[in-house]
Amino acid sequence: MGNSIVHGYLSLLVVFLPAMTANGAPVVFKGKRPLDLGRNFLDGKRIFGDGKTIEGLTVGVLAGFVIGLVESLIAWNIFFAITGFIGGLSAMIGDLCGSFIKRRMGYERGEPVMVLDQLDFALCTTLAYYAYGLHMDPTSLLLVYVTIFLLHVTTNRLAFRLGLKDVPY
Ligand code: CTP
Ligand code: MG
Repeated sequence: MGNSIVHGYLSLLVVFLPAMTANGAPVVFKGKRPLDLGRNFLDGKRIFGDGKTIEGLTVGVLAGFVIGLVESLIAWNIFFAITGFIGGLSAMIGDLCGSFIKRRMGYERGEPVMVLDQLDFALCTTLAYYAYGLHMDPTSLLLVYVTIFLLHVTTNRLAFRLGLKDVPY
């Protein structure tokens, strides 16, 4: 019983790894051209803000796919390349949705919003995997979210110390 929970959790973590990599990659390969081209939404605030760039989105999707490809080669199963692509793309879309929501709430680019900042991408990836027909048991999913949350907080602090981020969150 305990063993199957661990197995389910670790298996799901492998499937979420491309999305997690996609979400972190743009922090290292920062872009310049904002996806919203500097434009405002109906409320007069930026659509996404300067933190969401064309280069960042591209690098994120590619990084997710590459991780999925590597997993595919290791497991010798095309499934992981597919989930890698879906994971990377959905993570970047989820991250964009998160920023869109933050701007509508009046938060500036880079201002912290707990939970939304850490899990926006994971929620979108969950929906995408669900649409793809992947079975994800709720316990494993919850454990993966907790893992992602903790990893997000610690890696962002690390990125701040390394000078990759201006803020530690
Ligand atoms: N980034 C990027 N393009 C993306 C996503 C992220 O260039 N599509 C880079 C930006 O330099 C961004 C950094 O990765 O500042 C960290 O991403 P994130 O924390 O998601 O953005 P924030 O700057 O916090 O902006 P927001 O308030 O919109 O979340
Ligand atoms: Mg942020």
